[in-house]
Amino acid sequence: MNLPEVFVHLDHLPPIDQYFVDQAYNAIYRFPSIDHVEEKPYVRTFVNKDKSITKRAEFEKVFPTPSAVQHGVPVDHQRHDAISATVRAPGDMTESRFGQDLQNALGEAKSAYLYNQPWSYYDWHRDLSRHECAINFVLTDVPESRTLFRHPTDCRLNYFVQMLEYKLYRPVLIKSTTEHCVANLSDKHRYVATMLLYETTFEQAKEWLQNYKCNSYL
Ligand SMILES: [Fe+2]
Repeated sequence: MNLPEVFVHLDHLPPIDQYFVDQAYNAIYRFPSIDHVEEKPYVRTFVNKDKSITKRAEFEKVFPTPSAVQHGVPVDHQRHDAISATVRAPGDMTESRFGQDLQNALGEAKSAYLYNQPWSYYDWHRDLSRHECAINFVLTDVPESRTLFRHPTDCRLNYFVQMLEYKLYRPVLIKSTTEHCVANLSDKHRYVATMLLYETTFEQAKEWLQNYKCNSYL
């Protein structure tokens, strides 16, 4: 059976530069700080493309977590309740030649580094902060980690599931509005570099990227 294409490996492009790997490994990752009470809905705020604000009530299980970590270790000894959402640090790939070429062709992009703790599960979600797709580079060799995408079936208990097998340091374009999850089934800290593409579709980005050539992302 043919499932929709929700990721495409960009193997004609080079592995990511060591500069970005070092940046990711040394970044400070801040956990989302959302004040809310367990079992009670909290309001999540999204900034739309036209800069208007959408607010949505959500339920999540909360657990205490450090405010921020570096090298997997808390950096400021503060703890707050946080939802199980992406733990990220700002990136600067948008400033690079690749980032500039990409934005000239496909519009606004934002770069970030993502962090998955050892033995962590980033639950099923869609990326709904106004981007349809993203370019991801896995920066840690964790063959035990699993990235899955799922599609609904006639039965609400069942899904069609696709597994994305990342190649270390290699770019993959993903359709992040399709539900996905990440399980880091290892005792390693797992890092990913990502470029979120705000003004293009998955198909447009795929076509441009498949025709783009470079020797470096710097
Ligand atoms: Fe995501």
